[in-house]
Amino acid sequence: MPKSRTVYICQNCGAEAPKWIGRCPACGQWNTYVEEIIQKSSKTSELKFSGPVSEPVSISEIASTAEKRIDTKSNELNRLLGGGLVRGSLVLLGGEPGIGKSTIALQLALTMNEFRILYISGEESYQQIKLRADRLKLKSENCFILSEILIENIFTQIQNTSPDIVIIDSVQTLQTEDIESSPGSVSQVRECASRLLKFAKNSSVPVILIGHITKDGSLAGPKILEHIVDTVLLFEGDNNYVYRILRVLKNRFGPTSELGIFEMQNNGLKEISNPSRILISPDTENMSGVAIASTIDGIRPFLIEVQALVSSAVYGMPQRSTTGFDIRRLNMLLAVLEKKAGFRLATKDVFLNIAGGIKVNDPAIDLAVICAILSSSFDKPVNKKICFAGEVGLSGEIRPVNNIDLRVKEAERQGFREILIANNNIGPLSRAKIGITKVNKVEGAIKILFK
Ligand code: TYD
Ligand code: MG
Repeated sequence: MPKSRTVYICQNCGAEAPKWIGRCPACGQWNTYVEEIIQKSSKTSELKFSGPVSEPVSISEIASTAEKRIDTKSNELNRLLGGGLVRGSLVLLGGEPGIGKSTIALQLALTMNEFRILYISGEESYQQIKLRADRLKLKSENCFILSEILIENIFTQIQNTSPDIVIIDSVQTLQTEDIESSPGSVSQVRECASRLLKFAKNSSVPVILIGHITKDGSLAGPKILEHIVDTVLLFEGDNNYVYRILRVLKNRFGPTSELGIFEMQNNGLKEISNPSRILISPDTENMSGVAIASTIDGIRPFLIEVQALVSSAVYGMPQRSTTGFDIRRLNMLLAVLEKKAGFRLATKDVFLNIAGGIKVNDPAIDLAVICAILSSSFDKPVNKKICFAGEVGLSGEIRPVNNIDLRVKEAERQGFREILIANNNIGPLSRAKIGITKVNKVEGAIKILFK
């Protein structure tokens, strides 16, 4: 008779306690403990894929062969993974529902058609997946679909199919018979993921896991998986826009500051190799309230359009509203303009929008925000050939920003003629063909732009 025990597990961080507690001592969240029954089966976890017993080896004796990576047929994805998919790695692809995780996974499974790929879905039926494949207009003889949630059956089918790559959509639907809690609970997710990890390491078959994150965290978020997996890719973006950002949060085999930009089209996700082209509208020649910022996300520079609208407040309380930009930072910049440059914006509504539904946290966008606001306020367009990279300090000074050479190079590559940066921004800028104008105060920038 298998022994079972009851534990309480925090659904946020996975901490265990023998009895229910209101507030998790590990992560500080309230009401996250849920009772879970763990049944120890007599043949614990059926270690089907436990390989030979390993022995310690001196590090100098380990041959450092350059690991040959698997080409995913997507330049962006190869770059994000650090040069391709590593054999035996466990990759977690996370993101909110509806962002395109299943789409990119199926796209991968169908384009990498020289590999045998087993696509396991616990969410969609065979017909639904076929419909999606038709929509993507892709075909492959080597892609096998399995609709299954029980991990024991999945391992049986993996043994029968002997695939080169396994994709699982999603980890929250997986279930093992050894644990009695419902799929998606922390203990189920953790147990299934660690069995898949063992399988990946022992068989050298890479496993791509899809994981949901919900805003209220009711499902076991991929957070607890981050320790287990080798690579974490996170999909970001607004479902109302077509652009999706794929970010690397963790990578044991490559850089973590990379990001890739994709566009959701009618027939799947298409990579965007030159994001600046798309994030700047081509015909803003004589439009006021538009300024272009040279920003960096991770190590990837791109130019982005900042749009502002300043109008008289009709109701008593002036409105401030932003999309893709921190509203507190906007209030701060407005206060700087009011106090240091003498602009009366207190009776105006100010709306700010970052093009493409992209969220920008880079402080170097400040200067472009201020210029867009002033341009709208004066109703004078900013010269289309000028872009900006500078942080604005509380006393109205323009502060230097990091990686200025990357920003300048990207502006030059996109055909801009001039870039406004901070006076004391130092960097190897001498070879740049683009005109570099240095300013030290907001007033200085205003003089140059709206003289
Ligand atoms: P999906 O990949 O199912 O999201 P997730 O698995 O992350 O929950 O797809 C999400 C959205 O993408 C869905 O609203 C439909 C849309 N979509 C397209 O716009 N074009 C396409 O070719 C496909 C397959 C989906
Ligand atoms: Mg899905």
